[in-house]
Amino acid sequence: MPSSMEELIQKLHEIFKEDRVNVEEVKELMESYRSNPQDWKQFAIFDTHRYTRNLVDEGNGKFNLIILCWGEGHGSSIHDHSDSHCFMKMLQGELKETLFDWPKAEGGEMTESSHKILEENSVAYINDSIGLHRVENVSHTEGSISLHLYSPPFQTCQVFDQRTSHKTEAQMTFWSRYGERTPFQAAAPRENN
Ligand code: SIN
Repeated sequence: MPSSMEELIQKLHEIFKEDRVNVEEVKELMESYRSNPQDWKQFAIFDTHRYTRNLVDEGNGKFNLIILCWGEGHGSSIHDHSDSHCFMKMLQGELKETLFDWPKAEGGEMTESSHKILEENSVAYINDSIGLHRVENVSHTEGSISLHLYSPPFQTCQVFDQRTSHKTEAQMTFWSRYGERTPFQAAAPRENN
């Protein structure tokens, strides 16, 4: 069992040396790490307006490890995962994950297939064959923090309008990298939040 996030990252590097991703192995490893704010607080940078994406590790090009900070009421758009694996571990607080079916055609409302509350230290997993999801911090009083592993890393994904199923491409950007706020970019492309 990893005793720190640093040790967790080392073990993830070892696992991802293999070409094939063993979903259960990664999930169990991430679950076995007990969240300790001392390990990750330097990366947990919030914004008042929307959730932030803070890069922690680039996994030798095999994965991106990102800390997401969700203020009260913040949520993502309904989105896919660009053919990657997505593991999501709760570091602090709770998040609601809502799953949607892939739309069959544009024009109609999207179909919600299920939802669940993700509790501290739990790990959720999704990929495009499972469906699409939206993640939200539904609390009115508490922020939430989650650790996401995407493999292979991706720079864009598709976001969907719940009412019409219309999809657009969104750019994945970082609010900070390795604990340093990302320099401001003029005319930033649309983000997934
Ligand atoms: C999410 O799973 O909702 C977070 C998407 C992201 O990485 O921005």
